[in-house]
Amino acid sequence: MKIFLDTASVSELKEGVALGVVDGVTTNPSLIAKEKRPFRPLVEEICAIVPGDVSLEVVATDFEGMVKEGAELAQIAPNVVVKCPLTKDGIRAVRFLTGKGIRVNQTLCFSATQALLSAKAGAYYISPFLGRLDDIAHVGMDLVRDICEIYRVQGFTTQVLAASIRNPLHVVDAAKAGAHVVTMPFAVLEQLMKHPLTDLGLKKFLDDWAKLGAKI
Ligand code: G3P
Repeated sequence: MKIFLDTASVSELKEGVALGVVDGVTTNPSLIAKEKRPFRPLVEEICAIVPGDVSLEVVATDFEGMVKEGAELAQIAPNVVVKCPLTKDGIRAVRFLTGKGIRVNQTLCFSATQALLSAKAGAYYISPFLGRLDDIAHVGMDLVRDICEIYRVQGFTTQVLAASIRNPLHVVDAAKAGAHVVTMPFAVLEQLMKHPLTDLGLKKFLDDWAKLGAKI
């Protein structure tokens, strides 16, 4: 399973990439807006920092606008994956852009039927937003499980990118469900590493070593 960071923060991306466990990044218009920087230089910097795929989202909502913006975004760097929303025009855009050799991450997926059509259209990634389903008292992880099963049974090659991840349990459950990618905020990545018994154990080792007074 690949780990992506769900951020447009250059400092978070640099730190995540230096850790050696970050395979890519997903952005969206809200994350880009948070950075308060001109769009082009920001995303060019992100594409240079991150070794793997960088999802950049269109903001047009009609087919013509989406494919025009998608083609422009794809020119920015070879690791760009164009993000299109899961609407009727968005599904058409997936088919069109995929036909031009541009990879698409279909975003804002909230149902298995949407995911099925997106795979039929040739999406490279499908992004079910599980946290936002949890927010309205639906079990978001059930959608991730359903999509993984449908794609496996039907032989679709679209990769399941579990998004809207809010906590470490989401990551564990998405991994168990067979998601190909989990994208998470930097804070969740940090939570994945932490365990109080690790901290306590390390303190005990170092205290005992200090008492010995030896050197390595
Ligand atoms: O990249 C989109 C997605 O991960 C958004 O997450 O927390 O805003 O629902 P969230």
